[in-house]
Amino acid sequence: MKLISFLACVAAVCSCHASAAVAEADYNVVPLPRHIEAQKGDGFVLTPDVKVLYPAGNSVMERNARFVAEYVGDNLGFTPGIEGYSSLPKSKKGSKGAILLSLDGNVGNKEGYEILVGKNGIGISGATPAGIFYGIQTLRKSLPVMPRDSVAGEVVLPAVSIYDEPRFGYRGMLLDCGRYFLPVSAVKQFIDLMAMHNMNTFHWHLTDDQGWRLELKRHPEITEKGSMRKETICGRVAGVYDGQPHGGYYTQEDVKDILAYCAERHINVIPEIDMPGHTVSLLASHPEVGCVGGHYDVSTHWGPHIDILCAGKESTFALVEDILDEVVELFPSEYINIGGDEAWKQRWEVCPDCQRKIKELGLASDDGATAEHKLQGYFTKRVEKMLNDRGRKIIGWEEIFDAGVNPSTTIMAWHGFDYIVDSANAGHDVIAGSSEYNYLDYYQRQNTGEEPFLIGKYLPLSKTYQYEPMDERVLPENRHHVIGVQGFVWGEFIDNANLMTYQMLPRMAAVSESQWILPEQKLYHRFLPRLRRLTSLYDRYAYPWCRGWE
Ligand code: ACM
Ligand code: ZN
Repeated sequence: MKLISFLACVAAVCSCHASAAVAEADYNVVPLPRHIEAQKGDGFVLTPDVKVLYPAGNSVMERNARFVAEYVGDNLGFTPGIEGYSSLPKSKKGSKGAILLSLDGNVGNKEGYEILVGKNGIGISGATPAGIFYGIQTLRKSLPVMPRDSVAGEVVLPAVSIYDEPRFGYRGMLLDCGRYFLPVSAVKQFIDLMAMHNMNTFHWHLTDDQGWRLELKRHPEITEKGSMRKETICGRVAGVYDGQPHGGYYTQEDVKDILAYCAERHINVIPEIDMPGHTVSLLASHPEVGCVGGHYDVSTHWGPHIDILCAGKESTFALVEDILDEVVELFPSEYINIGGDEAWKQRWEVCPDCQRKIKELGLASDDGATAEHKLQGYFTKRVEKMLNDRGRKIIGWEEIFDAGVNPSTTIMAWHGFDYIVDSANAGHDVIAGSSEYNYLDYYQRQNTGEEPFLIGKYLPLSKTYQYEPMDERVLPENRHHVIGVQGFVWGEFIDNANLMTYQMLPRMAAVSESQWILPEQKLYHRFLPRLRRLTSLYDRYAYPWCRGWE
């Protein structure tokens, strides 16, 4: 395996300020492709007259071809033309100096791809356009990055054969837009970064105590009241407030725009409508579905809240059904995330409606769970049925596992490994997350005095990189239930796009290797040189990123 050293590549890039110098590609990218085999013979010389070829009439592949052209333009300063072909050129390595994209059923994994580079061209093939898209991501990250406003003369891509496929089918990132509304442009940056890191599932946290961010045509009162809070706490818990109203929500047109943007990048969008907790912004317009009624203001401070949806009133389920009806009309995702985390039970313990429901259902406290926990189980199952009836499946946070759930429910772990182990061994699909390893809102550097004000905790890049979701206690026959890994960008202190990317980068690169590559390929000291090259791409797009790797 011939690997171009990092230093040689930097030297080549640095010498091209005056343009027209030769630079070399390096296939050691993030996430690391599974097999990279150097081939004998000359490589391909990429010049501005290169063409990107795609199967004519296939609009998804045409978009893939345009991605190649755009990315090459971003890295190298020249933009190749694209051209449809009606029959596949003979050589998979491209033809007459082309970058050839081709669908090839022989690539086993539906997100896998093959890249062949020889002197006649570059071939990227995969069983699906998504697989080819990941091949395109590897190609773009292999290319050197020219300084802005300079144009590469030519770039040499050494002859190679690459085969790659992901370890996990679910590779997610959560963005919390409930705490602070982030504009569509910021959400698109988030999605661009997901694509760059081979991620395929955007978990969009759209509702929380401090804001409801999704327009519902049949319930305009929900955003009217719920999308705006009158001010925001200044610190984490102290009672000083900024006096500044904050609000915003995504119109259904915004959502469609984001869904289309994601679809082009082979990213599924899973909306999260958190319930029964984290719902004060809903109670603001629908106090009748709370346990105590009266008046609720959209919350102005952080942390879980005792006011949650009442599980004893039929009107709660009617409203939830109405909301979810519109959510499934908007979002095509097979999965809808219904939250379920941090649903404090103090109100349910004394609410006459909730207590009546507990009696009616014959729920009793035992060693495993209180009656109120079991009431959350009832709530979850009812909501799951609503979504199943509409052809969808649910994901919920790990707390719903304790409350009692159907085997069909997918669990999202967030505290640690016990929930991964217990839910996988109980036959649930589980998405692995851990606040200790992949909550990217935590500080990246120990010297917090030099960092923006954040929620706290300390999570260095090296720790995120060490994340291994497949706990040995997951029985071999249940390992397939661990369907993926996720990173999380919670938003209590992230109120703008620059801070969002700063918190994500470079830890998102570490998350991506936990999602994509095999554990035996994950070596931190080998990751760092790959990451250094990737940061030149972060810089190319002017994404702020944290430089202090401790
Ligand atoms: C969570 O952090 N409350 C899922
Ligand atoms: Zn109640």
